[in-house]
Amino acid sequence: MTDVESPQQQQQLQDQDEIKKLCFEGAWAWIIEIVFWCLVAALIMYLLRRLVEGPIYRKPNRIDGKVVIVTGCNTGIGKETAMELARRGARLYMACRDAARCEAARLEIIEKTQNTNIFNRTLDLSSLSSVRQFAERFKAEESKLDILVNNAGVMATPRKLTADGFEQQMGINHLGHFLLTNLLVDHLKSAAPSRVVVLSSAAYIFGRINQQDLMSEKNYSKFMGAYAQSKLSNILFTRKLAEILKDSKVTVNCAHPGIVRTELMRYNSCPKTWNVIKTIINVFIRSPKAGAQTPIFLALDPKLECVSGGFYYNMLRFPVLPKAKDAEMADWLWQESEKLVGLKQSITPPMKKKEEEKNSEMETVKVVARDE
Ligand SMILES: NC(=O)c1ccc[n+]([C@@H]2O[C@H](COP(=O)([O-])OP(=O)(O)OC[C@H]3O[C@@H](n4cnc5c(N)ncnc54)[C@H](OP(=O)(O)O)[C@@H]3O)[C@@H](O)[C@H]2O)c1
Ligand SMILES: *[C@@H]1O[C@H](CO)[C@@H](O)[C@H](O)[C@H]1NC(C)=O
Ligand SMILES: *[C@@H]1O[C@H](CO)[C@@H](O)[C@H](O)[C@H]1NC(C)=O
Repeated sequence: MTDVESPQQQQQLQDQDEIKKLCFEGAWAWIIEIVFWCLVAALIMYLLRRLVEGPIYRKPNRIDGKVVIVTGCNTGIGKETAMELARRGARLYMACRDAARCEAARLEIIEKTQNTNIFNRTLDLSSLSSVRQFAERFKAEESKLDILVNNAGVMATPRKLTADGFEQQMGINHLGHFLLTNLLVDHLKSAAPSRVVVLSSAAYIFGRINQQDLMSEKNYSKFMGAYAQSKLSNILFTRKLAEILKDSKVTVNCAHPGIVRTELMRYNSCPKTWNVIKTIINVFIRSPKAGAQTPIFLALDPKLECVSGGFYYNMLRFPVLPKAKDAEMADWLWQESEKLVGLKQSITPPMKKKEEEKNSEMETVKVVARDE
């Protein structure tokens, strides 16, 4: 009681308290603000990533025992596609050019999916004899083929020729798969309803079929020229094959997977000093698993059983530019490809019939004209 503080002292103490409180609350205000902005940043990042990754195929349908071939499935989009089809019970033939890389991926797929019906097979699409060997062995082993995924590809490579003298992007991305599919058509028909899925690319919009110089002998442009031409060829091939197979319950559709973080850029690695920029760019690029969703959707979705000849991105059908719908060009490319790969038996009797019909129609017109 004797310890009575003077009003002055009391005021001082109070001020000190006030200052302490202020400091304390001030720090909290800072922390709360920082946490708030971190949360906002995380949310934006999450939404951005969701947007970049695109939709996911979620239907649970299984394909137990269905025979599947995926080309180039030791890495990238092909591996993720193969993984999902294996998870759903496929009898999977991995068609890869490098036996060791194929086996490593095969063991990983078996471990992750617990499906043991996964087989390693050698297929080098830059060699027609390798394609023929692969097809022959496969046909001796299986009597039908339910799903063929033409996935393997190279992009923007230096100009190089395949074993058969084709420019390699055209040779691998288009001609190798052209021969493979032709050789397997009867097996696809035996499994009907069955499917062909083709990996194309939105890069087709830069392309044109250079009829005078299909193999870029006169002028080589690695991306806008040869790669884009090969991806445009993939679409023309898809549409032509869909037309040829329209009464057979074998459907053919193609996909743009998005821009995906894979080894596709291996021939165009940027300098090391770019690492920071690369990290930033990666935020806007899909994971291989996300990139595989549209091919997976095309291979699996029951609602596509009667849908053929489409170009899909993000599991949606997109219209294509007139140059990818040019039926005359598709015919020309088909016949040229048949010649280039040395196909002995064409699978296109309907087309020849159409020409005959046209001829006989013309004759009728002539006769009518003469009668008048
Ligand atoms: N990534 C994208 O942004 C993107 C965009 C649009 C379209 N695509 C298309 O998606 C498909 C898959 O590409 P990705 O991004 O997954 O590329 P990736 O990671 O480079 O995988 C390509 C696969 O094709 C194989 N391959 C290459 N040449 C081959 C040959 N001569 N014979 C057999 N297999 C061969 C590769 O085998 P090795 O590992 O042994 O070389 C690899 O397994 C390609 O058709 C590509 O054009 C990709
Ligand atoms: C391919 O798979 C078989 C088992 O099916 C395995 O014995 C063989 O070693 C594999 N090939 C390669 C080159 O690893
Ligand atoms: C070569 O190709 C590029 C890209 O396709 C094109 O811009 C250029 O005009 C072509 N050059 C010749 C001589 O045809």
